[in-house]
Amino acid sequence: MSKPKILVTAALPYANGHIHLGHLVEYLQTDIWVRFQKLTGRRCIYICADDTHGTAIMIRARQEGRPEEEWIAEMQAAHERDFAGFDIAFDNYGSTNSAENKILCDGIWGSLRQSGLIVEDDVEQLFDTVAGTFLADRFVKGTCPNCKAVDQYGDNCSACGATYAPTDLIDPVSTLSGSTPVKKTAKHLFVQLEQLHEFLDSWTQSGEHLQSEVANYLKGHFLGKPLRDWDVSRPAPYFGFEIPDSPGNYWYVWFDAPIGYIASTWQWCQKNGESLDDWWKSDDTEIHHFIGKDITYFHTLFWPGVLKTAGYSLPKFVHIHGFLTVDGEKMSKSKGTQISASTYLKHLDPAFLRYYYASKLGPRLDDIDLNLTEFANKVNSDLIGKVINLASRTARFIESVGLSKAYPEDGGLFREFADSGEKIAQAYDQLDYARATRLIMELADKANAYVENNAPWALKKDPERQQELQDVCTVVLNLFRQLCVYLTPILPRLSVQCGELLQSPIQSWSDSQTQLVGSPIAKFQHLMQRLLPEKVQMMIEESKPEVPAETAGAEQVAAPVSGPTSVPTDSGDALAAEPLAPTCTIEDFAKVDLRVARVIKAEEVPEARKLIKLTVSLGGDNVRTVFAGIKAAYTPEQLIGRLVVIVANLQPRQMKFGLSEGMVTAAGAGGTEVFLLGVDSGAVPGHRVH
Ligand code: MSP
Ligand code: ZN
Repeated sequence: MSKPKILVTAALPYANGHIHLGHLVEYLQTDIWVRFQKLTGRRCIYICADDTHGTAIMIRARQEGRPEEEWIAEMQAAHERDFAGFDIAFDNYGSTNSAENKILCDGIWGSLRQSGLIVEDDVEQLFDTVAGTFLADRFVKGTCPNCKAVDQYGDNCSACGATYAPTDLIDPVSTLSGSTPVKKTAKHLFVQLEQLHEFLDSWTQSGEHLQSEVANYLKGHFLGKPLRDWDVSRPAPYFGFEIPDSPGNYWYVWFDAPIGYIASTWQWCQKNGESLDDWWKSDDTEIHHFIGKDITYFHTLFWPGVLKTAGYSLPKFVHIHGFLTVDGEKMSKSKGTQISASTYLKHLDPAFLRYYYASKLGPRLDDIDLNLTEFANKVNSDLIGKVINLASRTARFIESVGLSKAYPEDGGLFREFADSGEKIAQAYDQLDYARATRLIMELADKANAYVENNAPWALKKDPERQQELQDVCTVVLNLFRQLCVYLTPILPRLSVQCGELLQSPIQSWSDSQTQLVGSPIAKFQHLMQRLLPEKVQMMIEESKPEVPAETAGAEQVAAPVSGPTSVPTDSGDALAAEPLAPTCTIEDFAKVDLRVARVIKAEEVPEARKLIKLTVSLGGDNVRTVFAGIKAAYTPEQLIGRLVVIVANLQPRQMKFGLSEGMVTAAGAGGTEVFLLGVDSGAVPGHRVH
């Protein structure tokens, strides 16, 4: 009996942001697994889509004044470009905002209704009467009800750690409009998950579908008590699908998102003449989900419950991975370690990251660290030093004669490499890529020892020993090819290049068992360049914000949402949008040394979206460079000669375009709304502002 076919999914990335190196942990882990399965001859498809619905996307589209559909289409194109750039090969990439998804949601909803799982309840939420929308937790700020810290988000306090409902905040302010929201009650629809408790107990605890730590976590956190009803609707306005039997209400994004897995599969089926039931309602298919640990609940409780109720196949396994850290810390915008896929690709070869992640990934949920120094060292020493070198030190020598007619004596190396295939395959299959790469590099070490011992460069110089030279190179290139077969899931481009060099494409895992002899080889082409550490540095610099956090207010303040509020705001609104900071003493204030300065030079920074480079004089020969995020509001010509007020004792800051030695003070929300502070006539550069 042949093995069941495999349907693989990775989580659907949100359409409200670009793909970064954190996301790529998942899409690469999954891509490697799929490529491995395909290489061994399994039927396997890799399905994904953009996750397009929800408040965040609605707000974003409104802020930009264009339809959501336009925004999500643009984002999806960017996502697909990024994935392709990293050789992530989906069989279908869909969208949750598709006709297929709507049809499937309707059907699944009907099943939930029929099974009596849907209940109604009133929910009180904060409502922004200016923006005309209910406010999700992160769109409300106010004073913490516990410790009274100001400026805290609606779900938890960053000062004391308390968690609360947004309705508990003292003096809440909507971050959308700056207005004070009101409490408003609306009807919501809930899935009564508790009715499925017994099923979820047995499915999650069977030991067959989840990593053991995940099963234990669910047992400890959720399954020990009654499961809470799950709120799956949001009242209008909301960007999503309206619930057919509950007009004015929309499915919450997390309801239709996983159904997007099925919808995207359906699109693939339509393109390939397949039946959807063969993939989602058949024992002849294994479904494997790959996700990050933050979305465990949705995929291990809610989703199996929905699938079960609606008569779809349950996942064979939900594979959960940890989070990416960079140099041991959470990714950070200001440190330049939140690196987007597209920024990476401007500077570095995607193969480097594919290999590095593989070398760090195991089957558990541990976080994985991108250590930038180790990254450069490992790529150079393993990929260039151990693998690429095998070809670059031998291929040229036998360009004209090709491989030996018979496979030469190699001391059992080929056999050993071939026999290792099983262990390596097992490691891939179990998602232990760290072990797979370790095993492959152990083989590479042996191949390199063979090269050293047989010194083809020395044989080359001896006309008597040309047969020996051809034999040695034949052995090395065969070993190189075996390594390339084993690395194919991780390094698909190298695999293709190897096929071109030896004029025999790598098509299957079993190619590692066959020797190439008597065939010509192609002219040697560079396979891969070394990783230059300065490129890593450039990538980090480019990932830093143009405007450092202190002056970046413009990015934080959300623009007004709709209609009449987009006329210039008056001072009362501005105060609401940015409430006063906590009281400070005169001593606190004195720490900030504000000085009058004259702009003596103002220059465009062509690559920067927001910055103008100012040279300012503080009197005498005290001249400094300051980068100011005022490009949208001022031209350089308007600035030259005028007096400004600068923070003169601010610690200098290295920015992407140079060192900024101070900060120019300005009022306003940012963007085109920036108003430089001036001084009345009489003040001269160097005067202190008290
Ligand atoms: N849209 C939801 C998933 C819906 S699935 C039906 C979502 N999107 S996401 O864009 O925020 O994340 C997509 C995937 O990337 C998730 O599995 C998430 O865990 C993973 N990662 C996002 N940031 C990550 C890191 N920093 N590190 C590792 N994985 C990360 O969640
Ligand atoms: Zn607090």
